[in-house]
Amino acid sequence: MAVAEILRRGARKPAGSDPGSGVYVHWPFCLSKCPYCDFNSHVRHAAIDEARFVRAFTTEIAATAQRIPGREAASIFFGGGTPSLMQPATVGAILDAIARHWKLAPDVEVTLEANPTSVEATRFRGYRAAGVNRVSLGVQALDDAALAALGRLHTAEEALAAVAIARATFPRYSFDLIYARPEQTVAAWRDELVRAIGETGDHLSLYQLTIEPDTPFANLHAAGKFVLPDDDTGRALYDATQDVCDARGLPAYEISNHARPGGECRHNLVYWRYGEYAGIGPGAHGRLDVEGRRYATAAEKNPERWLALVEARGHGLVVDETLTRTEQADELLLMGLRLAEGIELARYTEIAGKPLDPERIAELAQGGMVETTPERRLRVTAAGFPLLDAVVADLAA
Ligand SMILES: C[S@@+](CC[C@H](N)C(=O)[O-])C[C@H]1O[C@@H](n2cnc3c(N)ncnc32)[C@H](O)[C@@H]1O
Ligand code: SF4
Repeated sequence: MAVAEILRRGARKPAGSDPGSGVYVHWPFCLSKCPYCDFNSHVRHAAIDEARFVRAFTTEIAATAQRIPGREAASIFFGGGTPSLMQPATVGAILDAIARHWKLAPDVEVTLEANPTSVEATRFRGYRAAGVNRVSLGVQALDDAALAALGRLHTAEEALAAVAIARATFPRYSFDLIYARPEQTVAAWRDELVRAIGETGDHLSLYQLTIEPDTPFANLHAAGKFVLPDDDTGRALYDATQDVCDARGLPAYEISNHARPGGECRHNLVYWRYGEYAGIGPGAHGRLDVEGRRYATAAEKNPERWLALVEARGHGLVVDETLTRTEQADELLLMGLRLAEGIELARYTEIAGKPLDPERIAELAQGGMVETTPERRLRVTAAGFPLLDAVVADLAA
């Protein structure tokens, strides 16, 4: 049965607490490389042979599914790179290959990341017909000067036109903004965010600009030519973000992700609730549960080398190793404490084989950084979130 048909049969229900399984598919190409970005994305001037990629994706999907037979996918996510550069037929063929090997939950979420530069209505309608039911657009800013400074190829008006096409085509959509940009004031960010909330659907991703190693911004930053807001301004921008979003019904359910109740991204919840996910495509990471062991997988990042590996031996993995209990428990903390709901302490104990150190919890709780709920969940407080990395480092083994 084609994915589009399976989807017509089921209605979406709000995300529950069981993360289920996810399938991540990575499309590694972009029209140009943004100066802040260290995602696995590549610019190619010759046309991409999409049929060859479809064959390789199909092969890797079959090889991965063989290791975890009978799974039901709660979500499928096309990330990038810029997946909206794919032909709709390519997306449809990959979805059909997944549907041959996974059961699809009746309310499966199928998300595709789109860059506003590559949006046209026909292509979006094609994705919808192929089975995509949610898009996530990289809007980044609603200010043309900021977009140019971020090296984006689109204006704010073009981005909003893409949002309007998304709204008219998909049941659910979200977009990303980057804040804490050079010289950004709290007042200007509040205004921009209010406008964004007026345009978005049930979800917004709001990322603080980070300087990633080996990017053009990192070189400029090192040379003193790119100045980020200082810590106090960064904190004020973060606080304004929470304030504006809370007041308008999109509280943070994760440190950088906001949703109306029920609008949470199910795919991201699979990661943060430390569920199982298959990683398909160049540079994709996975976590697979096979015969009582949890495997961490990662594929070759270079698209052409990945193709050659898949064609030679049926998969593109360059990392495929089991995780110890301690490594898994640390990953549970690292992922789960990003969520407002936190982690179940009993699950930590089950994975680690011992409880989380009560003294460390008590110390952090005394400092107002974490709290334990009556249901025995551990979660980071509003005061703790801006210091999340330090809190996790304190708790990890
Ligand atoms: C794979 S991209 C999204 C899709 C698409 N390629 C685009 O750019 O429109 C994922 C998101 O991560 C965010 N991001 C990437 N690098 C970042 C950085 N250095 N600091 C903050 N956010 C970043 C951006 O908001 C971006 O939309
Ligand atoms: S931000 Fe998006 S469009 Fe820009 S290089 Fe990264 S993946 Fe490509």
